[in-house]
Amino acid sequence: AALFGASRQNSRGINMNIQQEWLQLEQAIRPHLSRQWRAAPLIGGQRQAGSAHEVRCPYELSQVVGQVQWAEPAEAAQAMEALTRAFPRWSSTPVEERAAILERLADLMEANRAELMALCTLEAGKTLQDGIDEVREAVDFCRYYARQARERLQRSELKGPTGERNELFYEGRGVFACISPWNFPLAIFLGQIAAALVAGNTVLAKPAEQTSLIAMRATELLLEAGLPADVLALLPGSGAELGSVFCRDARLAGVCFTGSTETARLINRQLAEKDGSIAALIAETGGQNAMIVDSTALPEQVVKDALLSAFASAGQRCSALRVLYVQADIAERVIELLRGAMAELRVGPSDRRVSDLGPVIDAEARAGLLAHIGRLKGEGRLIAEARLPAGLNGHFVAPVAFEIDGIHELEKENFGPVLHVVRYEARDLEQVVAAINATGYGLTMGVHSRNEETARRIEQLARVGNLYVNRNQIGAVVGVQPFGGHGLSGTGPKAGGPNYLLRFVSERTTSVNT
Ligand code: SER
Repeated sequence: AALFGASRQNSRGINMNIQQEWLQLEQAIRPHLSRQWRAAPLIGGQRQAGSAHEVRCPYELSQVVGQVQWAEPAEAAQAMEALTRAFPRWSSTPVEERAAILERLADLMEANRAELMALCTLEAGKTLQDGIDEVREAVDFCRYYARQARERLQRSELKGPTGERNELFYEGRGVFACISPWNFPLAIFLGQIAAALVAGNTVLAKPAEQTSLIAMRATELLLEAGLPADVLALLPGSGAELGSVFCRDARLAGVCFTGSTETARLINRQLAEKDGSIAALIAETGGQNAMIVDSTALPEQVVKDALLSAFASAGQRCSALRVLYVQADIAERVIELLRGAMAELRVGPSDRRVSDLGPVIDAEARAGLLAHIGRLKGEGRLIAEARLPAGLNGHFVAPVAFEIDGIHELEKENFGPVLHVVRYEARDLEQVVAAINATGYGLTMGVHSRNEETARRIEQLARVGNLYVNRNQIGAVVGVQPFGGHGLSGTGPKAGGPNYLLRFVSERTTSVNT
């Protein structure tokens, strides 16, 4: 029970529906909405010199949020050197001390919640609700991995023959590279780093190009929490350039990566070819996530959960719903309700309390989505498109739903607010699951059915990491729904789960003849 009983201890967050809580938060955030931040490579606690470029806000392109200085490839090699030197000392620092730093960081994040939320909104375009959830998840990761480290990374004695003492213990693997995505710029950035550090590794952190300012601020808080400066290097910059230096470095012991399947494969190839230790790879990648709805489901509930799963965070979650399979008997009703609900969606600037959705991350993401949307519109398969208010000046994409014949038609994951709907006949249920499995992805799946048999049968057949029945399929809670998939969706272990830390350590035994 201790392994899974995390919910009681999770961060509470803020309830935006409680007027008092909301007003306090709004007041706290306001001064941060016009601030400027600055990010630069940080090695051994020293900011490196160099030239910076401007960062603009994805929902208001006229607003400059700060300046980012990217790392040079030579700085990646320099960071590897410094982190290799720091490893023996950090690795022999007691687990208790390492865990306590994460807990101080969690407290500091709660104390700085307003600034962190403002940054998530301004740099990543997150809505205020997503900002609250982002900070809360980051806090949860820190506290959860601290607890897990204390409980699970202890030295233990194993039973053997009389006259012999056998002990099992754990230590860090060495230098770990943590490569994180822009869609959870604080939670996944810190989740990876917290796990790697508390397990005794030194860390080279390479945040997504789009969210370097948030990464910089998080790193500053980590140092303020008492992390020795030589144990973590922050390298904002081009993943392709920097990655091909540190992923080929003989001294690298492991990589924790969240991002595209394609990039995970590239990293895997680089690690396979490098000299030195055989590096571990923990990869969490994309999905082609479906929800299966049979005729016993409640259409109103289906639409509410499908809408949230497909369009929350502008569909930019790896867990997000992409393909809604609806049994033909209730498809018309579900589609009619979906049209109505989509007409109510409020897309707009992320700093407004009323916005359900903000923009997508950048111009390139928007262009890719619009090309896909244009193609499906051209084929005449539009079900509904939400309204974009006039006068927006950002990377907005109107949430949209199309009818298609099956998941096999989608060549790749469309990482944005695009929902595809497929009608199926009851007799074809097993083929539906087989078609979903055949995509090769296996991340999340939703099921809506009041027939327990059906849900159980789908659970048996579907090759997914996280299955959600009669609810939405996003927002996995740390310690409650350990998150991650397999196949094209990743290597495991699940983030926020009891087995995560074990992939970051070397296991050792000592046997003594007494
Ligand atoms: N952990 C996130 C979620 O469950 C990943 O996208 O939504």
